Amino acid sequence: MIQIFGVIGDPIGHSLSPEMHNAAYHALGLDCIYLPFHVRAERLRDAIEGAGALGIRGLNVTVPHKVAVMELVEPDLLARKIGAVNTIDFATLKGYNTDVAGITGSLESAGVDLRGKRVLLLGAGGAARAAAFASIEAGCKLVIANRTRSKGEKLADELGRGVNAIGLEDDEIGPAIAESDVLINATSVGMYPEIDKIPIRPELLHPDLVVFDLIYNPLETMLLSEAKKKGCKTISGVKMLVYQGAASFRIWLGIDPPVDVMETVVRERLIL
Ligand code: ATR
Repeated sequence: MIQIFGVIGDPIGHSLSPEMHNAAYHALGLDCIYLPFHVRAERLRDAIEGAGALGIRGLNVTVPHKVAVMELVEPDLLARKIGAVNTIDFATLKGYNTDVAGITGSLESAGVDLRGKRVLLLGAGGAARAAAFASIEAGCKLVIANRTRSKGEKLADELGRGVNAIGLEDDEIGPAIAESDVLINATSVGMYPEIDKIPIRPELLHPDLVVFDLIYNPLETMLLSEAKKKGCKTISGVKMLVYQGAASFRIWLGIDPPVDVMETVVRERLIL
């Protein structure tokens, strides 16, 4: 019997997940389908209960439901630490967060071993939390730089273990970049339609830095294009999108998805 998967969010029309997952099912000849579901906040409980009753196998959860859905499923330890669920497995009613796997998978696929690296993380919102946990799990020395310093400090306090928080001003961010191996942008600066924006001055970049921008639209942000010019290794947010989806796929189906097929589909969609 066909297995049904999907993504719930509000809005949901822009989601690239349906095409990405359906391409993977097709490539592997699986009798599965992945659909987008527009679910408003006030119907979230109905949607989760209804999905379970209908025999839906798994759902991804996107903005604005990632936190609220925690109360409706049984979040695993990592999802609880991050404070957000993006994957539900209805076979167990467990909730997971695959964003951390998305970040580590992206770095691994680019040949970057995060273990023990000095990471400078820009941002302190939802995406930054996943990047922060990925860094901590890999034993990195982490510095969080956020526009609203208090928010960065709050996240640093929560993480403990010598995590520092700074602002985005040149006098602080300059020395921090000079002392970092990996720079992860988890702010929304440079995201479509504001594609000519960059979160830091490009002069501060150095060639030994790996620059990972979690933004996937545009495919190459201003930050990545400037980093390339400087000779840095760069990683696009497309990888994060693909590898978090791949981790959800593994949870639901217990097999490895064709990540190359998934990435190709997403890239094609983003170029259109
Ligand atoms: P997401 O879930 O994508 O992480 P978010 O939780 O709204 O989104 O977080 C957005 C991040 O981008 C925050 O760290 C935000 O900084 P503030 O905490 O100061 O708001 C950062 N950000 C957004 N616009 C920015 C800008 N123009 N300059 C610098 N940082 C910005």
